[in-house]
Formats: sequence, structure tokens, C-alpha cells
Amino acid sequence: MSKVTDEVRGHSFDGIEEYDNPLPRWWLGIFFVTIVFAIAYVPYAHLMEGNSLQDEWAQDMEAAKALAAKQRIDWNNEELKTYCTSGDTWKAGAASNYTTKCVACHRADGGGGVGPAFTDDSFLHGGTYKDIAETITVGVPAKGMIAWKAQLKKEEIQDLTCLVVSLRGQKTTTPAKAPQGTRVDADGNPLK
Ligand code: HEC
Repeated sequence: MSKVTDEVRGHSFDGIEEYDNPLPRWWLGIFFVTIVFAIAYVPYAHLMEGNSLQDEWAQDMEAAKALAAKQRIDWNNEELKTYCTSGDTWKAGAASNYTTKCVACHRADGGGGVGPAFTDDSFLHGGTYKDIAETITVGVPAKGMIAWKAQLKKEEIQDLTCLVVSLRGQKTTTPAKAPQGTRVDADGNPLK
């Protein structure tokens, strides 16, 4: 006798009724396979060497930290100062990068615009060689200046630092933007 199919079970939920048919074999097959897989996988992932989600997360975090440490540039104030003041090898490279990448916001003569002027003694993010290199490196993304380490090599940022420092005290062709920040000398000491 063939099995009766498509027989309504006789109950109704909000007008929805159901047949009393067996589940298709292929569906049951997949279902049992997932059960067998889970029984094998759970001890593997949690008790043996398999990676749990927590392990993967921890590994990813480690990798991200290592990458961040690799991309970090540790600026040294004395080294920068020596480099900038002992010659002018920085001039050519700095000038071309400054013209293409910085002029739009800081003006060709450093008088400022969207960004602060470099010709006064006031700085928002510190006025030492190291501070300036650091600001150029990581940028001030919230205020519209990108982290230039994404586009410039360490040597290029170093050259630009020399140029920015050299603009301090320079005369501008038209009046510079009003000073912003704290007045400091090139060693970071407060000026009155
Ligand atoms: C899209 C506009 C923009 C460009 C392009 C830009 N800057 Fe800036 N920059 C700013 C703004 C805005 C600030 C001020 C951030 C703040 O208010 O904290 C700033 C701040 C700075 C400071 C810190 C000044 C201080 O007072 O502490 C330095 C140094 C600097 N920029 C250098 C550069 C250099 C070098 C370049 C080119 C490689 C450059 N900027 C390109 C917008 C720009």
C-alpha cells in the first residue's frame, strides 16, 4: 500500500494549515550530516588545536598591532634638528611636495588658509621638530588634514618638517592667518 501523502493535519493557525508529509530524504540527509559534523567539530574547535573565534580574534588583534607598530614612525627631535639645520638637502624635495600637497591649505608662503599659518610662533599641535613631523605623519583627520604617512615616505615627511620649521618668522606677501594655538619656541618652551 502506498503511503498517503498531502493529507491535511487538521489544525489551523491563523488560517494556515499543514500537510502531514515526511521531510524529503535529501533534506534529512543534510540535517544528519550537520549533526555529525557538529559532534566532531565542537571538541576540535574548543578542546584541540583548532581555532575558536576568540583565538582568531586574538590573532587578528596581534597582527593589527604588529602592523601598526611597523607603520609607526618614531621621530627623534635632535636627529631632525641636526638634519634640518646642518644642510639644505631637504630643500628640493620639500619644496615640490609642499607645492603639490600642502599649498592648498597652508598657502605657498606658509601664511595659512584652511590650515594654520606656519609663519608665527603659535602651534596647535606643538612646535618642536618632532611635534611637527608627528602632526604631518598622523594628520588631524577630524579637522581635514589627512595622515600624510599614507602618501609620503619617512624621508619626505622629514624634509617637509624642515620646510615648515623654516617658515617660522618669515614675512608673507599678504597678511597671514591669525595665530592659532600656543606660542612656543622650536624646543617646545613656552613663549610669552
Ligand atoms: C585639506 C587641507 C590641508 C592640507 C592639504 C594640508 N593641511 Fe596641514 N593642516 C590642515 C588643518 C585644517 C590643520 C589644523 C588642524 C587643527 O585645527 O587641529 C593643519 C595643521 C597642520 C600642522 C600643525 C600646525 C599647528 O598649528 O600645530 C602642520 C605642521 C601641517 N598641517 C602641515 C601640513 C603639511 C606639511 C602638509 C602637506 C604635506 C599639509 N599640512 C597639508 C589642513 C591641511
